[in-house]
Amino acid sequence: MSRIAIKNIILENIMGTEATVKGWVRSVRNSKKFSFIVLNDGSCQDSLQIIVDDVLSNYSEVASLLTGSSVAISGNLVLGGGKNQSIEMQATKVEILGKVDESYPLQKKSTSLEFLRDQAHLRIRTNTFSAIMRVRHHLAMATHEFFSKKGFFYLNSPIISSVDAEGAGEMFTVSTLASDISKAPKTKSGNLDFSRDYFGKETFLAVTGQLEGECYAMGLGSVYTFGPTFRSENSNTTRHLSEFWMIEPEVAFADLNEIASLATDYIKFLISYALTHAEKELNFLFSREDSTAVKNHMEILKHVRDAEFVRVTYTDALEILSKVDPNVKKFEYPTSWGSELQTEHERYLAEEHFKLPVIVTDYPKQFKAFYMKQNDDGKTVRAMDILVPGIGEIIGGSQREDNLEKLINRMDELGMNQEPLWWYLDLRRYGSVPHAGFGLGFERALMYITGVNNIRDVIPFPRTPKNCDF
Ligand code: 4AD
Ligand code: MG
Repeated sequence: MSRIAIKNIILENIMGTEATVKGWVRSVRNSKKFSFIVLNDGSCQDSLQIIVDDVLSNYSEVASLLTGSSVAISGNLVLGGGKNQSIEMQATKVEILGKVDESYPLQKKSTSLEFLRDQAHLRIRTNTFSAIMRVRHHLAMATHEFFSKKGFFYLNSPIISSVDAEGAGEMFTVSTLASDISKAPKTKSGNLDFSRDYFGKETFLAVTGQLEGECYAMGLGSVYTFGPTFRSENSNTTRHLSEFWMIEPEVAFADLNEIASLATDYIKFLISYALTHAEKELNFLFSREDSTAVKNHMEILKHVRDAEFVRVTYTDALEILSKVDPNVKKFEYPTSWGSELQTEHERYLAEEHFKLPVIVTDYPKQFKAFYMKQNDDGKTVRAMDILVPGIGEIIGGSQREDNLEKLINRMDELGMNQEPLWWYLDLRRYGSVPHAGFGLGFERALMYITGVNNIRDVIPFPRTPKNCDF
């Protein structure tokens, strides 16, 4: 008999028929003449309860199965007698596919997320991780649906790049010279001679796909990337990964207001898609003890889905922060015009002041990337960050400088070499148009929606400083 997914049994309410299910044993409970197996196959949050009668020839072997064993079970699907009247299976045959012994690391009923991080190859077999990963899948699907329906084209931007597009210098070098560093060619000044490297120049893992996105927006109108992004920033925080996924839409003929609205609609769409497609998963995750999701997280998500996001300029945000009574809220970092907003400031604005996602715009140019559109005041740029309660920044974006002269001046001011970006400057030389875009950190969005408080727990195999196992 071919197998059927537990999800389909529940969705289609299949009863009064024979079926075969295959999965991993979550628990075995033995009573006098029966065993109850709780089986999960990963297809959905629910497990199937299976009743195994002691008349089965391999009953004693089945009754001694440990959590994590894999089995194929055939039997009749019937309405269970319990309180919730869910579907159960009365087994007629249990085939043991793969046993586990006492060394199986996921024995305990509830295991901490921290412990499970060291078991990243097995943690997907827990209710918690399979829930997170199903939500992750749905948010990826939601992303493609959202942009595709709006007429955006999906762009695969390169992963190997020769430019420091964000200007932050937090890049991983891609080189074949390092395989024998002692024999690597050196320049006269003693540095590695990248002209003799694989690509004939120094290359990196991409920190963004934005610059290539801008090229393609100049021909396709609206594009979005959705790919892995690499940053070697040495930030060992609960919100930073060395390898994360980013969605970067770029729109020709658009200004900052237009993409601020696009970003708002996108976040709301992600929330409503998750609520529609993964409600059981979310409810399960919100009920975890270590969840940052407050008791009414579901209500908050619904509120955010339906609410207007706040828009405030950086200057006005500073004004709000400067008025905070230090007896009520003391910040570790001082705030003065021209200083970066720290996570504590971002979270205060979103969590305590506005209690909603906040779009902060028009930041001082000194801590923003070279490509952002310069405002007439000479001090600020047309940038936006979207801050959400519980996390801080989940989106960074801007209108782009489309004036060639201004862009070159800014690059000069920052001491940037124009040569590697000749093609980027060409976009301003030939048929330049106003354009804008943003980047959403996929894992940050997942943290926000699931209430999971460590970014390492929303990506299958996290890469962070000093950690690249699995
Ligand atoms: O603000 P960022 O650096 O913006 C860009 O890279 C622009 N090129 C985007 C654009 O305009 N097309 O990064 C965008 C988002 C951040 O808001 C954050 O959510 C996420 O990417 N992010 C990280 N997520 C996890 N780990 C890290 N180390 C991250 N760095 C940024
Ligand atoms: Mg940013």
